[in-house]
Amino acid sequence: MKMKKIGRLDGKVAVITGAGSGIGRATALRFAAEGAKLVLADWDEEGLNGTLDLVRQEGGEAVAQRTNVANEEDVKALIDLALQNYSQIDIVCNNAGITGSLTSLEDQTEKEWLEVYGVNVLGAVFTTKHIARHMQERRAGAIVNTASVAGIRSGAGGNAYSASKAALINFTQTSACDLGAYNVRVNAVCPGLIETGMTKFVFDIAREKGKVDKLGSRCELRRYGTPDEVAAVILFLASDEASYITGQALPVDGGNTASLNLPGMKF
Ligand SMILES: NC(=O)c1ccc[n+]([C@@H]2O[C@H](COP(=O)([O-])OP(=O)(O)OC[C@H]3O[C@@H](n4cnc5c(N)ncnc54)[C@H](O)[C@@H]3O)[C@@H](O)[C@H]2O)c1
Repeated sequence: MKMKKIGRLDGKVAVITGAGSGIGRATALRFAAEGAKLVLADWDEEGLNGTLDLVRQEGGEAVAQRTNVANEEDVKALIDLALQNYSQIDIVCNNAGITGSLTSLEDQTEKEWLEVYGVNVLGAVFTTKHIARHMQERRAGAIVNTASVAGIRSGAGGNAYSASKAALINFTQTSACDLGAYNVRVNAVCPGLIETGMTKFVFDIAREKGKVDKLGSRCELRRYGTPDEVAAVILFLASDEASYITGQALPVDGGNTASLNLPGMKF
């Protein structure tokens, strides 16, 4: 059955990184359902091709390119491919991310920190750098970065991951300021706990122990979230409906960051 297009992104071209899994895949499917043409990127070729197939099965239009977002040449080639194929780019979703290690600081290495910063921060820096002129010339564009609640508060990831997401939130603000005069908007989403490839190990352990219902129980909505619930907010920020929003980092976390969440204080 062909997808029903309701067209919130009709006529738009979107580049999505980390499209091979989780939130990126859900975003690709949502965007395609809303009429966008897609340029999908991921380091993992199998996942990437899986998303490409799903989008096409649903009647969407997309191309895909294996890309390491931490490599500037790769990112430049991705943007070039998008422009060759579609002549314009309206939306960039910087969504690729890695967690890095959860070990204590004393055991963390420089290499791990550089890897996490390479993907989670420089990935967004490189796409923004290489798309900026195109969007400035068209005086239109929306960039949505997938940050994390870990970039707002501690306790939701390792040191490098949290610091990288805080850096990404700040880069969202500085690039929004750089590009605002050209009508290019830059925003971020900050997901809480979402079941994806990245958090699979957490869910696997909880399922093994019969405790999956406990996951997310300390956030205000008392549950974890789904990739599609994040994709819905990415869609909003990328769409013209968010035309007066820029430089913001919006938690999509079931209310987690709204609370001090002190142990023993849930009634
Ligand atoms: N799942 C959560 O609970 C959660 C919470 C907050 C933020 N996030 C963020 O959401 C984003 C998407 O992650 P997800 O949860 O869907 O996890 P995921 O692991 O399912 O998806 C991440 C994707 O990024 C890709 N990727 C990793 N390194 C890459 C690289 N160097 N170049 C290109 N692609 C690369 C992976 O191959 C994978 O397909 C990430 O930025 C993550 O930090 C996730």
